Amino acid sequence: MKILLLGKNGQVGWELQRSLAPLGEVVALDRHSTEWCGDLGQPERLAQTVADCRPDVIVNAAAHTAVDKAESEPELARRINAEALAVLAQAAARTGAWLVHYSTDYVFDGSGEQPWQEGDATGPLGVYGQTKLEGELAIAASGCQHLIFRTSWVYAARGGNFAKTMLRLAQERERLTVINDQWGAPTGADLIADVTAHAIGLAQRDVSVSGLYHLVAGGETTWHGYASHVIAQAQMRRPELSWAVKDIAPVPTTAFPTPARRPLNSRLNTHKLQSRLELNLPHWQQGVDRLLTEIL
Ligand SMILES: NC(=O)c1ccc[n+]([C@@H]2O[C@H](COP(=O)([O-])OP(=O)(O)OC[C@H]3O[C@@H](n4cnc5c(N)ncnc54)[C@H](OP(=O)(O)O)[C@@H]3O)[C@@H](O)[C@H]2O)c1
Repeated sequence: MKILLLGKNGQVGWELQRSLAPLGEVVALDRHSTEWCGDLGQPERLAQTVADCRPDVIVNAAAHTAVDKAESEPELARRINAEALAVLAQAAARTGAWLVHYSTDYVFDGSGEQPWQEGDATGPLGVYGQTKLEGELAIAASGCQHLIFRTSWVYAARGGNFAKTMLRLAQERERLTVINDQWGAPTGADLIADVTAHAIGLAQRDVSVSGLYHLVAGGETTWHGYASHVIAQAQMRRPELSWAVKDIAPVPTTAFPTPARRPLNSRLNTHKLQSRLELNLPHWQQGVDRLLTEIL
């Protein structure tokens, strides 16, 4: 099997380089690749990459993920998150390749308290969510065989992440304020990559798995619950570090005004993925504890 991986150095892209390797030949590109174009900002050259490379599967981990910045550069966000996906999906449909892509909880408006199902009405609150939704719709409209995984609150050991920021602040400040009215599930890039590899294997044997899935770790929490867990675990594992923090104060989203509005309810119902792909999604604390073991 030949797999074309786009966005190889992002959180998910990096883990995909590992998890896809046993499936076959992986051609991994980023926006700076020279032999073949992997820049989603140049959709017409991407189509040429697919035509020349002739992959069996295209996995797109690249995206314009800067949620606040997208508000001031909507054309760029749309080109990368939507127009490039339309081009990739049409190329996949032409060549018979599968297209695997990632989307987000930000396609929803965050109302209510129930976990969102795949078929629920969307209502993005900002440019990022809107353009990611347009990307999903372009893939579905192309008629290509596809797997779209909507995920949320992604972290990885490599690069910066929320847990690392909280650990640093907990050693610098006596009082932290963390949002406690946004609900979701922190999800490891390694889990996303492993599920992707499994799903691609399944898709080769059963084309009927083509479709849209919610992919997040089990359980639910707030950013405040996430931060409290990370700091308590870290203090238990590394008591000798100079912990300054005495108070982790819960605050509403309104305490941190940002250019883009965030959904309050980012809970995603993963029943479809777990039953259709025959997988178990572990509790979010399992992946976060593993991350802490790696980084502490
Ligand atoms: N992070 C989250 O919390 C989250 C939540 C829900 C859904 N998702 C979705 O999950 C997927 C993976 O996200 P992630 O967390 O791995 O994101 P990430 O770490 O921000 O990685 C995104 C990658 O896309 C690349 N990229 C940006 N513009 C590009 C362009 N024009 N051409 C080629 N590559 C480009 C970036 O490269 P540079 O480093 O060179 O900019 C980066 O390597 C995305 O579809 C995202 O929308 C993420």
